[in-house]
Amino acid sequence: MSGMFITFEGIDGCGKSTQCELLKKHLEDNGKDFIFVREPGGTVIGERIREILLDKKNTQMTPRTELLLFEAARAQITDEVIKPAIEAGKIVICDRFFDSSSAYQGMARGMGMGFVANLNMAATGGLKPDITFFFDLTAEEALARRGKRGEASDRIELAGLKFQEDVRSGYLELAKNSEGRIITIDAMQSPEEIFEQIKKTLEGRI
Ligand SMILES: Nc1ncnc2c1ncn2[C@@H]1O[C@H](COP(=O)(O)OP(=O)(O)OP(=O)(O)O)[C@@H](O)[C@H]1O
Ligand SMILES: [Mg+2]
Repeated sequence: MSGMFITFEGIDGCGKSTQCELLKKHLEDNGKDFIFVREPGGTVIGERIREILLDKKNTQMTPRTELLLFEAARAQITDEVIKPAIEAGKIVICDRFFDSSSAYQGMARGMGMGFVANLNMAATGGLKPDITFFFDLTAEEALARRGKRGEASDRIELAGLKFQEDVRSGYLELAKNSEGRIITIDAMQSPEEIFEQIKKTLEGRI
């Protein structure tokens, strides 16, 4: 028996976690066997790597170090959590996965999308999500939403509006070349409207 691997992507504040919560509730209500994980993190080792990545004191971090730390956390969660769950027939929902590295490090930090794609494959041993929902939103709107949430920005969120716009272009390019894996959703819609689209896409597949 083989499960299903679903990931949520988009710039900071586009609504990923909101939709993850709605999907978790929906799967619970329907008695589905699922696990929910987030990147970076989701394992003891991964959570420690996450602290290093998001720590505002780490201003010396180079783009290559950043990329390899993300890939290290990803390798760990893939082998320790995601693969075993899929093999056991579970649905795995992941709040961010390797498309984040392609968009943030590959495009916005300028390391090259192809270069990052190779490292992504090395980190996951070739595992890819079955479906990826990309919530498309302008950097301005996402910033306004994050402002309302009232949390202190982390090291990566502090990189600014231009950076978030570059991340968005990275996602748009990935979606164009994903051969149907990445479903682009207009994130200006209400959370309920967005979730209806997610449910429709998943109908008959979970
Ligand atoms: N469709 C929506 N319309 C308006 N506001 C929304 C919508 N979805 C989420 N929000 C609000 O926008 C803010 C950011 O949403 P959320 O935390 O889900 O984004 P995120 O993509 O998980 O962000 P991060 O990348 O920082 O984790 C929250 O305050 C949330 O309530
Ligand atoms: Mg979130």
